[in-house]
Amino acid sequence: MNHELFSDDFTPIGTDRLLIRRFLPSDGADLAEILTDPKVVHFEPYDVFTPEQAVHEAENFAQSSCFYAVELREERKVIGKLYFQHIGNFGTYELGYTFHGAYQGMGYAKEAAAALIRSAFESGKVRRIIAYSDEANTRSWNLLEHLGFQREGELREYTYKFLDEDGQPLWQNMLIYAMLASDAASGQ
Ligand SMILES: CC(C)(COP(=O)(O)OP(=O)(O)OC[C@H]1O[C@@H](n2cnc3c(N)ncnc32)[C@H](O)[C@@H]1OP(=O)(O)O)[C@@H](O)C(=O)NCCC(=O)NCCS
Repeated sequence: MNHELFSDDFTPIGTDRLLIRRFLPSDGADLAEILTDPKVVHFEPYDVFTPEQAVHEAENFAQSSCFYAVELREERKVIGKLYFQHIGNFGTYELGYTFHGAYQGMGYAKEAAAALIRSAFESGKVRRIIAYSDEANTRSWNLLEHLGFQREGELREYTYKFLDEDGQPLWQNMLIYAMLASDAASGQ
């Protein structure tokens, strides 16, 4: 069974400045600008990409129903990606987001994520949306709070990506946030 909400027939979502759409294999060059930036991928669960890997990733994303390209309408440039995937069997979905370094701090991430969330809840198939954020990734959990997510807890020393100079894990504390359909309906 296909658990993805917006499976094969996803209709692009337009906002004032953005278009949220399926990835195309031709998005490789734009995606490379995002994924080859060490600052952008620092808190992501993967390493910095080479341009060639990013081109290949755009081809993978074009086949996936979990990743969405965020295109700047005027420039027709992909400036970010959203991840939205069904987790388990109880109408819970996980949200993720990654934006081009030069297009952060302009409200684009909020505009894109808010539109996807609205559309997801309007479908009637989504009950709960969760998101994880490293405690040190202030921009990420600020975004979640601006979107109306509630902090549900902290997973201490949950994971690590980097080692210190002695080869020991640099443990990361992970915050868990969630938003319910009923929160959205009540405007929280
Ligand atoms: C996490 C991430 C998506 C947050 O992006 P962001 O650019 O901070 O979020 P927004 O686009 O909503 O921008 C918010 C800021 O834009 C400002 N802003 C400027 N113009 C705006 C507008 N027209 N509308 C709304 N906000 C606007 C807001 O005031 C806010 O400022 P603040 O950060 O000083 O509070 C981004 O930092 C990112 O891609 N990081 C790398 C990947 C990553 O770490 N992902 C999460 C892994 S868990």
